[in-house]
Amino acid sequence: MEHAVQVENLVKRYGSFTAVDGVTFTVDRGEVFGILGPNGAGKTTTLEIIESLQKPTEGRVSVLGLDVQSHAAEVKALIGVQLQDSAYYDYLNLKEILALLGSFYPARTAPEPLLEQVGLLDKAASRVAELSGGQKQRFAVAASLVNDPELVILDEPTTGLDPQARRNLWGLIREVNQRGVTVVLTTHYMEEAEVLCSRLAIMDHGRILALDTPRNLINQLEASYTVKLTMDHPMTVAQLETLNGGVEVIQSGEQAGEESGTENTYTLRLANSPSALKTMLDEIAKAGLGLENLQITPVTLEDVFLELTGSELRD
Ligand SMILES: Nc1ncnc2c1ncn2[C@@H]1O[C@H](COP(=O)(O)OP(=O)(O)OP(=O)(O)O)[C@@H](O)[C@H]1O
Ligand SMILES: [Mg+2]
Repeated sequence: MEHAVQVENLVKRYGSFTAVDGVTFTVDRGEVFGILGPNGAGKTTTLEIIESLQKPTEGRVSVLGLDVQSHAAEVKALIGVQLQDSAYYDYLNLKEILALLGSFYPARTAPEPLLEQVGLLDKAASRVAELSGGQKQRFAVAASLVNDPELVILDEPTTGLDPQARRNLWGLIREVNQRGVTVVLTTHYMEEAEVLCSRLAIMDHGRILALDTPRNLINQLEASYTVKLTMDHPMTVAQLETLNGGVEVIQSGEQAGEESGTENTYTLRLANSPSALKTMLDEIAKAGLGLENLQITPVTLEDVFLELTGSELRD
């Protein structure tokens, strides 16, 4: 069976500026596929070309086996789209908007079950302006489902939501996916990508830097733990080096102390090996160093992103 989405050597230039710079990936049917990247990475541009809202400068995109340029109308009928900025008719209520949007499509879902699915049935007679931020985002997801699509494309569905509302929306996206709908989404949130996505493309400056399952992306990092040590005395360089078997020192002494408000604090990366932590603790004991505090954090997608792009993910 053909892929849900196939993108080959996609390039999009605006004048001399290249927003998407040779992107290739496929999305399998039934997946939740994520594109993670900072502002300006080219995520929305890529999605809009898949949605046939923009024309590529170079490359080919097909959706559900249809070329998006030669079959734009058919593609639009088969997919559901939540744009990054959705504007809805503000003189209509939610039920009326869904009925109107549905009327544009051959296949449609009645407004009430859609509103029920996103937990907004009691707001059926409200206008969009009367909804909270989280309710608006949920309504946007409902609107993307109006034509009973095989594929939904959600551009930052949870940006601006509080943690609880974000989790609720994750539940909704999962439910939609469990009914067999393929989901492509963009996000700035590592945790969201990790929780929701079966595969993930990390994008920056118009390019895909890595593409894999969240787990494999994390495992491919050489380090698997970040360790923060607070010692009772500053360590000498020589002492620090005894801990340094396969250990990368990220911050040491004053530098790390400034951040944590504690002097004698060292942040280390431990090698991806089960014995690395034991070796480090043994060395500390052997050297007679006093340990005041120890924090161990597993490597996250945040670290993967940092390693790939050299910068923190801006929000
Ligand atoms: N119509 C346009 N004309 C000129 N430049 C554009 C146009 N649309 C987008 N760009 C530029 O292309 C780049 C990628 O934009 P895009 O909207 O795809 O980023 P994004 O990854 O979705 O970012 P964000 O996380 O902020 O939504 C940006 O530098 C943007 O300024
Ligand atoms: Mg965007």
